[in-house]
Amino acid sequence: MTNPFELIKSQFVAELATTSLSDTAAVDALRVKFLGKKGLVTELMKQMGGLAAEERPAFGKLVNVLKAEVDQAIEVALATAREAELEQKLNSGWVDISLPGDGIGAGSLHPLYEIREEIVDFFMGMGFHVESGRDVETDWYNFEALNTPPDHPSRDMQDTFYLDKKVMLRTHTSGTQIHYMETHKPPFRMIAPGHVFRVDSDATHAPMFQQVEGLVVDRGITFAHLKGLLFLWAKRLFGNEVKMRFRPSFFPFTEPSAEMDISCVFCSGAGCRRCKHTGWMEIGGCGCVDPNVLKNVGIDGEEFTGFAFGFGLDRIAMLRHQVPEIGLLTANDQRFLRQF
Ligand code: PHE
Repeated sequence: MTNPFELIKSQFVAELATTSLSDTAAVDALRVKFLGKKGLVTELMKQMGGLAAEERPAFGKLVNVLKAEVDQAIEVALATAREAELEQKLNSGWVDISLPGDGIGAGSLHPLYEIREEIVDFFMGMGFHVESGRDVETDWYNFEALNTPPDHPSRDMQDTFYLDKKVMLRTHTSGTQIHYMETHKPPFRMIAPGHVFRVDSDATHAPMFQQVEGLVVDRGITFAHLKGLLFLWAKRLFGNEVKMRFRPSFFPFTEPSAEMDISCVFCSGAGCRRCKHTGWMEIGGCGCVDPNVLKNVGIDGEEFTGFAFGFGLDRIAMLRHQVPEIGLLTANDQRFLRQF
């Protein structure tokens, strides 16, 4: 009778001969059949426990030889099959290595962020501190301390997003003036860029936009300092050819107050639809700090005077890039943003 080792070996050789050597799954099935937990070779090894002690060494030796032979044959067959499968994959499809890759485009700064950085840079160079303030303000900071009486139209529900009777989303960055003056002793100069909120929405107004507040308090500060600084700044932003003018205006927290215009960037001042044929575009409000405001924060208005200004960042970005609609700046449409 043929011994079990020979029997299993010849069965393995026969089955290996009929296994496809280009199919890793088939080779693996063969491995499981002979070497798996319940494989033929494995079962044979288990029989060793039932043998008499003197029979074991010879049996053990034979079964180990068998296992090693099967093991090695399977390894070789697997390697052959893997190679065959790769070969087949390469032959069936083709890769055009001359095609351009997907590529990762370089990012760029958002136009609003870019303008903000530029403005901050300018004022930091002039020795200004940069504050950020807070989006939610109380009545005191947004209105009362800024000399804005209870019946002032800017307190209207129509303009202000109220969260509570005395708490609101700030309608301007001017509240940062109060925060700053409450915590710093003059002389000082600071700017505060940030988001502001108003119940307003059309092509040139958005419910959320950004402003840059500025405040300077020192001895002997006059309206002339304000005008000089802002004109210099406008030239930096819009180029040396830009023309500027101050128009008399009113803000409860400045006296005197002015609105600053620059010559229309679309028609260079000739007059067009965008500037309503005036040749000018408004970019912000400013003025000398009202003595009542200084009093509200405990600064001696006899010793110190100051000026303040507040400009719309979105407005400046629109003028700079000739963007016709304010909503485009915050819509995050890639087709729009990729142009910058
Ligand atoms: N806060 C004013 C506004 O939002 C602008 C302003 C700031 C005017 C500072 C004067 C001084 O319109």
